[in-house]
Amino acid sequence: MEEIEALKAISRALADAARDLSETSDTARLDAELLMAEALHIDRDRLILSPPDRAVPKRFWNMVKRRTAGEPIAYITGRRAFWNIDLHVGPGVLVPRPDSEVLIVSAIEHFQGRDAPKRILDLGTGPGTLLLAALDIWPEATGLGIDVSRRAMSYAAANARRLGIDPRVKLQIGDWAEGVQESFDLILCNPPYIAEGAELGPGVREYEPDEALFAGQYGLDAYRALAPQLPRLLSKGGLAAVEIGAGQAEAVKDLLARDGLKAEVAKDLGDRPRAVLLTWI
Ligand SMILES: C[S@@+](CC[C@H](N)C(=O)[O-])C[C@H]1O[C@@H](n2cnc3c(N)ncnc32)[C@H](O)[C@@H]1O
Repeated sequence: MEEIEALKAISRALADAARDLSETSDTARLDAELLMAEALHIDRDRLILSPPDRAVPKRFWNMVKRRTAGEPIAYITGRRAFWNIDLHVGPGVLVPRPDSEVLIVSAIEHFQGRDAPKRILDLGTGPGTLLLAALDIWPEATGLGIDVSRRAMSYAAANARRLGIDPRVKLQIGDWAEGVQESFDLILCNPPYIAEGAELGPGVREYEPDEALFAGQYGLDAYRALAPQLPRLLSKGGLAAVEIGAGQAEAVKDLLARDGLKAEVAKDLGDRPRAVLLTWI
């Protein structure tokens, strides 16, 4: 009997929270489930398939309040899954987006039938998103992650340690690849590409760090800085995969295809141009 009451309480709390969250979130029910799972220390599949007969934790309502105020779910739960890994994230670092997985898919496709990449560079690594996912895929590879943000670096270092990849990772604070002399088989880069003044989804501008989002009047400043660096960084036979924003494909191709590099566009699952892929002609 008590068990049934507890299950009913969880189900009522989920419905109430989803109603509150629908004012600020397009994914209110999903958000409520993720927060409840986190509050109960279980995963969402377990919550849906076999909910525990426990009281609704108080912290669930605190989390709902934070989410209603616009805070990203990943900052509240402290985690975000990306490709095949789970990353710890929080204020001061970009929340990894599934859109960026197109860079990983493009890299896998490029190296099919070729030697696996040995040296990987991630420019603007944030919490280590692309570098750690790639190192998980290619266990013989080692990598360098660079970011201008000290806070991002500390998340990346902690994520590398937690995933047991740290012996294969070097992290450094820097301005893109300024001063890096080596060349790499795979270069991954998801730079800031939002035009200042652009409209963003709820909570993004308020919570996520400016240096991870904005890149000048047209959102192209980071590509301008990267363009002269990429040719000396990319090994023969290698791939540089650079994420782009909506409407930027032609401009970024023009900027990055230089000094013997050719550029192609890769689309995401929604068929939108999402990355520029650079290889040697
Ligand atoms: C869009 S975020 C991407 C983070 C991560 N790669 C991901 O996909 O989740 C861009 C990252 O570039 C970093 N960044 C901005 N300007 C930079 C610069 N001049 N040099 C190095 N990193 C920079 C930001 O701090 C931020 O972590």
